[in-house]
Amino acid sequence: MAEPLFQVENVTKSYRTGDVEVWALRGVDLALHRGEMAVLLGPSGSGKSTLLNIMGGLDRASGGVVRFDGQDLTACSERQLTRFRREHVGFVFQFYNLIPSLTAWENVALVAEIAVNPLDPAEALDMVGLKDRMTHFPAQLSGGEQQRVAIARAIAKRPGVLLCDEPTGALDSKTGVLVLEVLRRVNEEFGTTTAIITHNAGIRQIAHRVFSFRDGRIEEAVENAIRLKPEEVTW
Ligand SMILES: Nc1ncnc2c1ncn2[C@@H]1O[C@H](COP(=O)(O)OP(=O)(O)OP(=O)(O)O)[C@@H](O)[C@H]1O
Ligand SMILES: [Mg+2]
Repeated sequence: MAEPLFQVENVTKSYRTGDVEVWALRGVDLALHRGEMAVLLGPSGSGKSTLLNIMGGLDRASGGVVRFDGQDLTACSERQLTRFRREHVGFVFQFYNLIPSLTAWENVALVAEIAVNPLDPAEALDMVGLKDRMTHFPAQLSGGEQQRVAIARAIAKRPGVLLCDEPTGALDSKTGVLVLEVLRRVNEEFGTTTAIITHNAGIRQIAHRVFSFRDGRIEEAVENAIRLKPEEVTW
């Protein structure tokens, strides 16, 4: 089998606030294969966001190794991490983080401009089904549409990996399905390796692989023999 795109080995993370030390991750092992769509489940505080942020180069592990395409992120300088994020990682967060004073097209173009081999912003917006909303400002778009702009922005640099932290967390189920359909389409058409954190256990059925967190560890990793389409999932 080909080497995984991401290899996480015995990763730990502790946060110290004053005298209190919290172990957010207590030894996580995970492999994310190229082209795979993974779902990360688990109770609040179990370490999901901490791991995603470390994988995306936004935070650093306290121990262990994180390899992306053979590159050891734990050994990278800040400069190298910034470059890794810029070139390889697309982020999607719960609350879109669009720039309110820029149109949908401009929000996407901002990222496309600094990318090495970008998608045309219009093409990225077409991919998420918002071709006819390019000149709209975020305030003129629904939550689900704003999230789709955020996905267009994340994919505009053709990232090797898309890391999504509760992308449907602020949406109703019908809108959430549309967002998941877009993520699935990106995964299938571009082969973008994708990790999705969610509190909605139903979403596990759309993934190739499901990782369940508990107390800073992965308790279970399950491969789905049959994947459902987002519209077939029970929320
Ligand atoms: N910057 C930080 N400083 C101190 N403690 C933190 C920090 N970030 C996370 N933690 C702690 O680490 C643990 C794991 O947090 P994390 O955000 O990874 O959980 P999560 O699984 O994403 O939870 P949720 O589902 O609520 O988003 C929690 O106990 C949290 O309080
Ligand atoms: Mg979280």
